[in-house]
Amino acid sequence: MPAPAILFPADPLNPRRPDPHFAWEARTLRELGGEQHLVDHDALLTGDVAEAVRRVPRDAGPLWYRGWMIPSADYASFARALADRGANLLTSAPGYASAHELPGWYAVFEGATPPSTWIPLAPAAGRPGPEQLAAAVARLGGRGPAIVKDYVKSRKHEWHEACYLPELSDLAAVGRVVARFVELQGEYLAGGVVLRRYEEFARAGGGGGTGAVAEPGDAPVDAPVDGPGDGLGDGLGAGRSGRPSGGSSDAPGRGGTGERPMEARVWWLDGDPVLVGPHPDAPGQTAEPDLTGVRPLVRALGCRFVTTDLASRADGSGWRVVEVGDGQVSDLPRGIDASGLLSSLLAA
Ligand SMILES: Nc1ncnc2c1ncn2[C@@H]1O[C@H](COP(=O)(O)OP(=O)(O)OP(=O)(O)O)[C@@H](O)[C@H]1O
Ligand SMILES: [Mg+2]
Repeated sequence: MPAPAILFPADPLNPRRPDPHFAWEARTLRELGGEQHLVDHDALLTGDVAEAVRRVPRDAGPLWYRGWMIPSADYASFARALADRGANLLTSAPGYASAHELPGWYAVFEGATPPSTWIPLAPAAGRPGPEQLAAAVARLGGRGPAIVKDYVKSRKHEWHEACYLPELSDLAAVGRVVARFVELQGEYLAGGVVLRRYEEFARAGGGGGTGAVAEPGDAPVDAPVDGPGDGLGDGLGAGRSGRPSGGSSDAPGRGGTGERPMEARVWWLDGDPVLVGPHPDAPGQTAEPDLTGVRPLVRALGCRFVTTDLASRADGSGWRVVEVGDGQVSDLPRGIDASGLLSSLLAA
């Protein structure tokens, strides 16, 4: 079988070049002798899938994608359009949805990840009703802190306004934060509303992996203090544009008591870790997670190329899976050595 080629999003301003966000990855791939083709991400999101894949040669064979997030339904159209041209994405549409959306991976990772429940909700369908929210809260045990996100992304940069739920038993407060989350996600709400029990993770700066002292519920990121809309490249930009989160480390600090929780992003190919690196929010942080418990779960998920974001519990009781993602759309912090990861993709 020929080595897979890798698809990158084209630069909207210069469609013959990769998008600047992925240019360094594309350059690394070229240095490794790998082949690449460009796709039009904006055309894909507007439903013009023929235009999106126009530059992919016919019979291009096996393909990986490395680019901005794509809603699962659009990924399915993308895969079909490529198949019609004699090319096949090595991650199938069902496989993509399983890794990309929390309900797709949750059952496999249950017990290793914060307890979670969800309410399916179409974008612009309003907010979940009070009975639906009360039932979801009851499924999570009815009390204690939690967070809200959609099937793919949180609004962690609006932590107190649209992410953190200090006390589930305060249903009115839960309703307010969830409503604000849904309102801010707008038409980009992915799948529905997810509630997850909040767990305290070790924070950077604590040394020795045990973490610094933080107040429960401290924002996990240096959230912008305020400001209209979303900073370019933040987690929300991701929701809006289907783009993965970039760094937020340049955002103005909130000045909370704690440092951000330390997360490692582990890249898995065919059940083996091929890169353990920092989370893109904190590209300078390194952690060495214990992968013993996670490996069988990744294998059970059965998706070829995925990421797991791992955080160490603040009480030192072990590593937790904060999030699973499809490896094709997980952000890779710039400056990291991606040659091993890309070589593995070429050899897969
Ligand atoms: N259950 C939880 N308990 C404690 N903290 C949490 C929990 N879920 C999320 N967080 C914190 O909020 C942050 C954002 O959550 P999550 O990773 O699920 O959302 P996201 O928007 O998809 O982030 P990204 O794609 O940038 O990794 C996490 O990095 C973590 O610090
Ligand atoms: Mg995350």
